[in-house]
Amino acid sequence: MLRTHTCGELRPLQAGEQVTLTGWLNRRRDFGTLIFIDLRDRYGITQVVVDSTTSPEAHAVLAEARSEYVLKIVGMVRVRPEDGRNTNLPTGEIEVVAQQAEILNPSKQPPLYIAKEGNEDEALRLKYRYLDLRRARMQRNIILRHQTIKFIRDWMSARGFLEIETPMLMASTPEGARDYLVPSRLHPGEFYALPQSPQQLKQLLMVAGFDKYFQIARCMRDEDLRADRQPEFTQLDIEMSFVEQEDVLQLVEPLMTELVAAIVPQKHVLSPFPRLTYYEAMERFGSDKPDLRYGLELVNVGEIVSESQFVVFTQALANGGQVKAIRVPGCGNYTRKQLDELSEVARTGGAKAAATLSIEAAGVKGSIAKFFTPEQTAALVETLGGEPGDLLVFVADNKDAVAGGLDKLRREFARRLNLADPDLLAFAWVVDFPMFELNHETGVWDAQHHPFCMVNPADVEKLNRNELEGVRAAAYDLVCNGYELASGSVRIHDRAIQQRIFDRLPYTPGEIQRRFGHMLEAFEYGAPPHAGIAPGIDRVLALFCDEDNIREVIAFPKTQRAEDLMMHSPSPATEKQLRELHLDVKVEA
Ligand code: AMO
Repeated sequence: MLRTHTCGELRPLQAGEQVTLTGWLNRRRDFGTLIFIDLRDRYGITQVVVDSTTSPEAHAVLAEARSEYVLKIVGMVRVRPEDGRNTNLPTGEIEVVAQQAEILNPSKQPPLYIAKEGNEDEALRLKYRYLDLRRARMQRNIILRHQTIKFIRDWMSARGFLEIETPMLMASTPEGARDYLVPSRLHPGEFYALPQSPQQLKQLLMVAGFDKYFQIARCMRDEDLRADRQPEFTQLDIEMSFVEQEDVLQLVEPLMTELVAAIVPQKHVLSPFPRLTYYEAMERFGSDKPDLRYGLELVNVGEIVSESQFVVFTQALANGGQVKAIRVPGCGNYTRKQLDELSEVARTGGAKAAATLSIEAAGVKGSIAKFFTPEQTAALVETLGGEPGDLLVFVADNKDAVAGGLDKLRREFARRLNLADPDLLAFAWVVDFPMFELNHETGVWDAQHHPFCMVNPADVEKLNRNELEGVRAAAYDLVCNGYELASGSVRIHDRAIQQRIFDRLPYTPGEIQRRFGHMLEAFEYGAPPHAGIAPGIDRVLALFCDEDNIREVIAFPKTQRAEDLMMHSPSPATEKQLRELHLDVKVEA
């Protein structure tokens, strides 16, 4: 070992000991005779001081050293004078008086300032990710990631779950995204697909009798990226046999609660986790992943405004749409410009606009106030619980646009008004998801989650009548603070039911046989009833670390355009590689 201690370790107890430390030069202050250095490694920072009168050689070395040089210091631990103590540092009561100093490796001037966060371009941070990762925040996030995964592995193992690895080179499994394909050298013209999730394999492990499975599973999806999406991400993939929906919920709820207590004890959760049906979540919050840290609930005012003179509202209702509103406390004094901007917010959620009424002590004001009778106005205020100083924000549109628009407005007002407790992790279950979803572009019904979800027994008749819209699945999500953290379902284990679901999805019989024939066949050999779930580890960690983007909790993430700027991927293949893979590349202009 090149060192006797780490940079986070020394305390007054070690005063008088000779120690050897190694690390990076975080900061250097040169006072002539005395030079102070903050030496940094992943364990912390230790102050080193060198005096030219007592250690001229070490002083000469440290006079040369610059930011991010790798140093080795031999010195004596000493308690700092009273006025030199730093209560912000765990090592802040001591310093090491250098007797020898060695530069193990110099550093060029780094393109990022490590000791302090800057607001550099994302591209620069990702190009020099190994430097970015030296920063305290990133070190904390990556260490927290390790601790979280370790906790999960121990917790699941203690409850009889087996971690079983599933292949990376496999066949396509539908999770709603495009596949990443890998060309085969041995099978010209054929491709492996990288797993969008281990969904089918974990179900087959249940058929194999493993009963309780988990995996810290890497998943790959070629989809449009957002702050909470990476092309490669990690799931805690879980599957259990001989269980019902309730058993899965009763497993994951204590797992999350205990994980929070162990890893981020400064945060707290709602107990028990609230449960909402999908329908209720959409009605009350306009979202299937509502942030429950604050109210601002959506209220349907269609009945009140249906007889009003405001054509935008009455027309939306006549077209089969809705009129809903939220009451925003204390924003009744918004200016014309601020009010206009609210329509912009609503548009990001798919609505055409937002309309508003301000409640003042003297009455209700706003450009649309004139369209309502005093009775209608009074009913609106009462139904929404409005008080002087409040702003009422309305969206009238088709059902989806109303939900989308008000969801965005709700989140925006919560942000502006600071309504969300940053230390509350408001986990909640959303249950009874629809089985099918209409793709408005193609007019085709597809599985909302994936085709392996069990249909709610109460809706089998609807399925038989082909009334797909109202068919619910035994599918559930775990949501938290406005994010979807996990999805899962009770699975179909009966071949006939699985076949019936496939028949209603946009697959030809040949395609069903080719893509899912192995599942249908497996169900003929004694498949046990089973259910599962998969929390996204990156999203859990982003919430734990108060990060808005999951990139900040992944050591080597991709950019928004799915590139690795450090390793330069994707990149062209060589002629030889292409020949071996039987590929001919045609780049379209
Ligand atoms: P689903 O597709 O909902 O379900 O994914 C489960 C969870 O994985 C996380 N997640 C992502 N995280 C980061 N980047 C992405 N691109 C990304 N996509 C998904 C989310 C999500 O809730 N096989 C099913 C699970 C099951 O039914 O057991 C599945 O993969 O946190």
